[in-house]
Amino acid sequence: LHIAVLMGGWSAEREVSLLSGAGVADALESLDHRVTRVDMDRDVATRLKEIAPDIVFNALHGTPGEDGSVQGLLDLMGLKYTHSGLATSVIAIDKVLTKQALVPHGIPMPGGRIVKTETLFEADPLPRPYVLKPVNEGSSVGVAIVTDQGNYGNPIAAASVGPWQEFDELLAEPFIRGRELTTAVLGNEALGVTELKPKSGFYDYESKYTDGLTEHIYPADVPDEITEACKALAVEAHRLLGCKGCSRADFRWDDERGVDGLFLLEVNTQPGMTALSLVPEQARHNGMSYPELVQRIVDEALA
Ligand code: DAL
Ligand code: MG
Repeated sequence: LHIAVLMGGWSAEREVSLLSGAGVADALESLDHRVTRVDMDRDVATRLKEIAPDIVFNALHGTPGEDGSVQGLLDLMGLKYTHSGLATSVIAIDKVLTKQALVPHGIPMPGGRIVKTETLFEADPLPRPYVLKPVNEGSSVGVAIVTDQGNYGNPIAAASVGPWQEFDELLAEPFIRGRELTTAVLGNEALGVTELKPKSGFYDYESKYTDGLTEHIYPADVPDEITEACKALAVEAHRLLGCKGCSRADFRWDDERGVDGLFLLEVNTQPGMTALSLVPEQARHNGMSYPELVQRIVDEALA
């Protein structure tokens, strides 16, 4: 097949996407596909028209590759592409729309409210500890956990600098103490559950992409009912959102509250494919090599 691998772009996750895209392109070449690497820019439609690939492998993260924009463009151009389609992407990139789509179906997610960033200098939006996050970023870009110790600075103090300050609006959610778990869904099946134990205690951008800063435990050392609940919720969220090919569901589990303490944080429709990323790692634990995973994602898109 002639496959265009779309990567890069201009989101805050550009560097992550370049790593995902390079890994995917190398794997596809090792499988004897003809590969054209495309760093996403505003002329991408013209370039894709010239390249005329059989299929586009979407290795973009964040806007505009994960929010439906690129999906809509590819739909209009009549090009096949991997991962989720337009409507799913619009909802899943947005952490508020995702709650609105999933909570009425019984998927447990933390409550939250949108706050104007400037008002954070006046009062806490929720009792501490709470989490501040942009509504539509990935890789923990702009995320802060606000505790009484003020990990990322006290939002009430105007002088404090937080990664959240460059966003006009933020989602405030109660912080769920306990453990960080994640489950990949491939096709319509959950691969397993990994626990992430960042040395810093916060699975932020640096902990995600610096080798050695986070311990990945697979299978997660949690009770069977938690493993089963993560897998069932990940598959159900994937289905309810209409995800295609591959997604990854991220959870927090308060291990003092049993299964009632398990909360889905979000569904990633363009999960990372870097050397430290979790979907390739879970695939490997299931006996599937990285090139086999990439081929499987292509097959799902062609099916
Ligand atoms: N947003 C990053 C790429 C992930 O979900 O893996
Ligand atoms: Mg994410």
